[in-house]
Amino acid sequence: MSSELEREISRRRTFAIISHPDAGKTTLTEKLLLYGGAIHLAGSVKARRAKRYATSDWMAIEKERGISVTSSVLQFTYRDHAVNLLDTPGHQDFSEDTYRTLSAADSAVMLIDAAKGVEPQTIKLFKVCKLRGIPIFTFANKLDRYGRTPLELMDELEKVLGMRAYPMNWPIGSGPEFRGVYDRRTKNVHVFQAVGRHGAEEVGEQIHPLDSEEMRALLTESELEKLREDIELLDIGGDDFSIDKVLTGELSPMFFGSAMTNFGVRPFLDAFLEMAPPPSGRPSSAGFIEPVGEKFTGFVFKIQANMDPAHRDRIAFLRVVSGHYVKGMTAHHVRLDKDIRLAKPTQFMASERTGIEDAWPGDVIGLFDPGIFRIGDTLLEKTRAFDFECVPRFSPEFFAVVRSKDPMKRKQMEKGLEQLSEEGTIQIFQQLQMGMKDPIVGVVGQLQFEVLQYRMDAEYGADIIVDKLPFGHARWVVAQKFDPKAFDWEGNRMTVQDRDGLPLVLFRDEWAMQHALQKHPELAFQAHAPQLKANSVIIGPS
Ligand code: G4P
Repeated sequence: MSSELEREISRRRTFAIISHPDAGKTTLTEKLLLYGGAIHLAGSVKARRAKRYATSDWMAIEKERGISVTSSVLQFTYRDHAVNLLDTPGHQDFSEDTYRTLSAADSAVMLIDAAKGVEPQTIKLFKVCKLRGIPIFTFANKLDRYGRTPLELMDELEKVLGMRAYPMNWPIGSGPEFRGVYDRRTKNVHVFQAVGRHGAEEVGEQIHPLDSEEMRALLTESELEKLREDIELLDIGGDDFSIDKVLTGELSPMFFGSAMTNFGVRPFLDAFLEMAPPPSGRPSSAGFIEPVGEKFTGFVFKIQANMDPAHRDRIAFLRVVSGHYVKGMTAHHVRLDKDIRLAKPTQFMASERTGIEDAWPGDVIGLFDPGIFRIGDTLLEKTRAFDFECVPRFSPEFFAVVRSKDPMKRKQMEKGLEQLSEEGTIQIFQQLQMGMKDPIVGVVGQLQFEVLQYRMDAEYGADIIVDKLPFGHARWVVAQKFDPKAFDWEGNRMTVQDRDGLPLVLFRDEWAMQHALQKHPELAFQAHAPQLKANSVIIGPS
């Protein structure tokens, strides 16, 4: 293994922030960029309303600041680390896209609003991280307001998420009296001093041991007394720190701070980058692929169309799993069994969208996509072909029949649906009943229908009607033989097929599903589409 490859891997950190809308993800992202030196003055992002429908939360930052960050990943350096921060759009609702992005991350930062605690969307995203077994770091935000106490928050993580937390630091005061944090590793106290409004600049920080002259001058006797008591309590009653448990996602290192005022941002970033794992390998059909392999490999985890409406471009985002990517190299596209030149890759630096010369494991490259990529595609320097198995396709929970208001615009509608399904925003199904031509769209979050209507109109000029269907579960059929005609519509279920021609059944509810299983013991259902392999035999509708 080349020492350069080894060095590049060990200094990389690729992560995503998971949170409920309004917890402060955009604010924290901006502050990480400030501390990473990628921007010089953080400004409060005003265009927040626009982001409800935006494909990336960072569009709001971009509009406000005039820098190009509309992308799926931001890369910045902090000290010696090359940091890749992946975007997980945090709309009121969410799409599969968000889940999939987590397949490209090696760790997650769970951001919670200290006043609101663990909220619904955080729980959903947490579960996906848990499934992958990646380390989860917790940042309790908005300590500059009165909220739940640190102990209450730790308790909530355990009760709601079943995860123990280990406070890496401990806040001194809260609300307007939030003064600083005590670092349990170094046993130093950080006392903060705001510089500029709303944390536009890095915060002033005085760092001294708890029992020092300096601290006695900075904090009041009662603040020091309270802190000593808290720490004693934690040391006696809290968990022991175990980096092994952190790395398997059993124990979450917890931090307290305020993204808005920057209080606690640097202590968090320092400790997080030190503890978070470097890029890990990924499972594949040929076994686990380690990042240190000399051959370049990667998988597409996200496709985004129309990032720049003026250019109608489409970008496939590829996470590098192993080896070294060099500009212009040729890689094998496993699904198409074709060699392609990776000619126009872009990497997304915080300051601008730049052409890149090379990339290493953990990095994400944006490939110009003339329509040849699909989510889950594997690219590799050819030695032997294999497929990565890391991008799950989720079972949608909301369904609707989609029609074009203007029959003359059906073509535009179909093109739009096709592209948005390749992006992973929606899944398209075809009805199997005779004469039923209108596509059925499945999504994992209700709001995706609104996003769909908005984007179809804005990007494809197709005004669509969305007729919601009363189904809540989609199950792919696993069977030796399956006759959809005999099985079809009985009022509470409907047979359709996916883009690959695989049959699946939409059920009204859990009861309808159990009923079908009892009546048809020869069938089995699964919530995820079976991986389509070149040699697999598909038993579809006759
Ligand atoms: P999101 O991306 O997770 O949706 O959250 P975002 O950063 O947009 O923040 C949501 C709101 O919370 C914003 O207020 C933001 O200023 C505020 N906020 C973020 N971090 C902190 C913090 O540490 N302390 C406090 N007190 N507030 C914080 P807004 O009223 O919607 O916008 P604005 O008028 O402040 O720009």
